[in-house]
Amino acid sequence: MQLSDATYTATRRALLAPGSEQLIDLAFRMALGRPVGPELSEARDAAVGLGWLKPETHTFKPEGRLLADSLREYQFWQQRNRKLPLEGQIAYHSQAYYSGKSVTEIGCGYGSNLYDIRRTAGSVIGVEPCRVYHQMSAILAEREGVEPLNLRWGRAEEIPLESNSCDLVLCVSVLQYTDVRAAIREMARILRPGGELQIVGGTLGAFTYDCAKPMLKGSLRSAVGYTRTIVDTLSYMGVGRRLTGTISNPSTGFPVYPTEDIMKRWLRGAGLIENRPPARAWPETVFNYRKPEA
Ligand SMILES: C[S@@+](CC[C@H](N)C(=O)[O-])C[C@H]1O[C@@H](n2cnc3c(N)ncnc32)[C@H](O)[C@@H]1O
Repeated sequence: MQLSDATYTATRRALLAPGSEQLIDLAFRMALGRPVGPELSEARDAAVGLGWLKPETHTFKPEGRLLADSLREYQFWQQRNRKLPLEGQIAYHSQAYYSGKSVTEIGCGYGSNLYDIRRTAGSVIGVEPCRVYHQMSAILAEREGVEPLNLRWGRAEEIPLESNSCDLVLCVSVLQYTDVRAAIREMARILRPGGELQIVGGTLGAFTYDCAKPMLKGSLRSAVGYTRTIVDTLSYMGVGRRLTGTISNPSTGFPVYPTEDIMKRWLRGAGLIENRPPARAWPETVFNYRKPEA
């Protein structure tokens, strides 16, 4: 799916115009399921006109939801002063650490991490399967007054890059949506010998403890979602597939959160060596591995 030419042009114009903050705030709140007050009713009408929302229900059209995902991440990025999510928490997940390196981010979304890393890195490439996020990346680069990112269309399980081609591969909050073992093998493949893999993601323990209360306290729907994720995680770890559905790409459905021990086993199985022990940035775990020198 991608934005039609008309929606792209209208969205670009609206997001580059004065007053676009209201439109971004609306998308941000709606993407997080937060209430939208009367102060945003004008923005809501504008979002209907732009083709983001259905006129009858004021709920997202499918492309509007994807576009709002990017605006939600953009707003989060602005709120953390345009810095990496773990900047200041994990020393090797800081802008300074990426200095001079060729960095590839798998599942980069519209590219907030890469905008930051690019300030010091030797080069950056983003791989992302959702075309709407590519389109939003171009618009948001223009809004920020910076060059567009070097993005490739592709999936973690089949990365469109040469083997042994980059110094560092980064994967933040993505692995749970992939065929995890295939994704790890592919990320190992594109690393140069001695290159480093950084995975930031959830594990079963953290998911179970962190999400149980809010999910189970919420609606029946969220309790079902929670249970489904546990079932899929256990079946993926056991037999290599999700029991309750099949992932389609691009998608953020049917997440799985393998245990830390299983992740370590799969990373070793892909020929990687532990660089640093897993670090906690609750609820995320940061795995740091490297490819052996040839
Ligand atoms: C929660 S977002 C994280 C985006 C970005 N890494 C960040 O930290 O802001 C999840 C991303 O994973 C991407 N994704 C989902 N399935 C994927 C796959 N099989 N291969 C690569 N990326 C995938 C989605 O399109 C989305 O951009």
